[in-house]
Amino acid sequence: MKVAIVGSIMVDLVTRCQRYPERGETLSAEAFTIVSGGKGANQAVACAKMGCEATLIGAVGADPFAEIALGLLGGFGVNVRHIFHSAASATGTASIVIDGTSENTILVARGANNDLSVGHLDRCAEAISKSDALLVQLEIHLPVVERAMQIAHEAGIPILLDPAPAQQIPDRFLALADFVTPNAQEAKTLTKVEPIDLATARQAAAILHGRGARQVVIKRGPAGCLVSTGVREEVVEGIAVLPVDTVGAGDCFAGALIARWLETRDLVEACRFANAAASLKVQRPGAQSGIPSREEVDAHSQSPS
Ligand code: RIB
Repeated sequence: MKVAIVGSIMVDLVTRCQRYPERGETLSAEAFTIVSGGKGANQAVACAKMGCEATLIGAVGADPFAEIALGLLGGFGVNVRHIFHSAASATGTASIVIDGTSENTILVARGANNDLSVGHLDRCAEAISKSDALLVQLEIHLPVVERAMQIAHEAGIPILLDPAPAQQIPDRFLALADFVTPNAQEAKTLTKVEPIDLATARQAAAILHGRGARQVVIKRGPAGCLVSTGVREEVVEGIAVLPVDTVGAGDCFAGALIARWLETRDLVEACRFANAAASLKVQRPGAQSGIPSREEVDAHSQSPS
């Protein structure tokens, strides 16, 4: 199955410390690592690890970070032929702090990701229209995201919109997508309802349906997710684990969800599978290196193909 992913490519600069520094404070950290990240790139790696042919459309700069950002992608078999190398900007970076509770805070400098244009998208429209599904997030310019969805929509290609990072989007974005998968923070931003329990998750889903979304998955972290089609609703139970690094868990979820949905056309089963994948990811460091293999997810979700 072929999946096109249009989105961000970053280098993640990850610092681990017991607690976040206060404003103006200098604090000694425990460890520092540089790994490849970016929501689009992470989702492409997740698709590839789950067995899809993944084509990533995005942008990097003409600097040494570009090599780090692209390093793992080729190794995982992600098609990088449509990645634009911008001479004008640095490769995007995400400065990530993970504290002693494994909570993270991320400061993103989008850099070259902001140079990806609607024109670039039009030049690789075929890579989208010849795919079986499109994955998009919100870490690049919104008109580029919209153009990607339009190309897929015109070609009848199913679209998964992961509305991350949290920000407002026009209703037409929600209506173009076949699946919308906000986490609690993103759902709160989009609906003004914080899904702290099932009742509020239902309310948030209903608001998203009212704004045009067809199939909604409210991700509730360790509490699982709520799957809502507007007429049917299902609760997918969470999997209790001890997290060490939740960075990229949502990306892992998105890639695994679309991979399993393409195999089964069953959104609830796809969410169970994605939940299992994300629960394995959070137990490992690295947004991409921490994504489990297909075999591991099959064993964990007890739903092998
Ligand atoms: O979703 C996680 C990703 O968000 C990180 O890899 C970081 O690059 C930020 O873009």
